[in-house]
Amino acid sequence: MIPVCRLEDLPEGESVRVETTPPVAVFHTEEGELYAVDDTCTHQDASLSQGWLEGRQVECPLHAASFDLRTGQPTCLPARRPVRTHRVTVEDGVVHVHLTVAEGTAAWARSTPVVPSAPQAHSPSAAEGTRTA
Ligand code: FES
Repeated sequence: MIPVCRLEDLPEGESVRVETTPPVAVFHTEEGELYAVDDTCTHQDASLSQGWLEGRQVECPLHAASFDLRTGQPTCLPARRPVRTHRVTVEDGVVHVHLTVAEGTAAWARSTPVVPSAPQAHSPSAAEGTRTA
């Protein structure tokens, strides 16, 4: 379980890149759900955390492939392979990622939307991830 940032430091519609190996992108959708996938596009070397979030999909900033954040599956070319998904939890106002160990999208690790509860008190020094969006 890897702490990412405080929930209030990841507003809806934004994403954050977590410098794990490999890097992970965490998304907070406009609908208030949290998802995490591998940050590197499966087509070439682009950071999905710098892509465009639309609903539960992210569009790669380099060649515009889209991925479903719930499953990691590409929804259009040129990407053909899925990105791994990772479970996200919020504990005491801190977003955590639970990294998927195996390749692929094991059922237990598919992104489950986390709908955060009431906002927590702001802590300006709590960000632990690298914000890119
Ligand atoms: S690098 Fe993502 S679509 Fe090409």
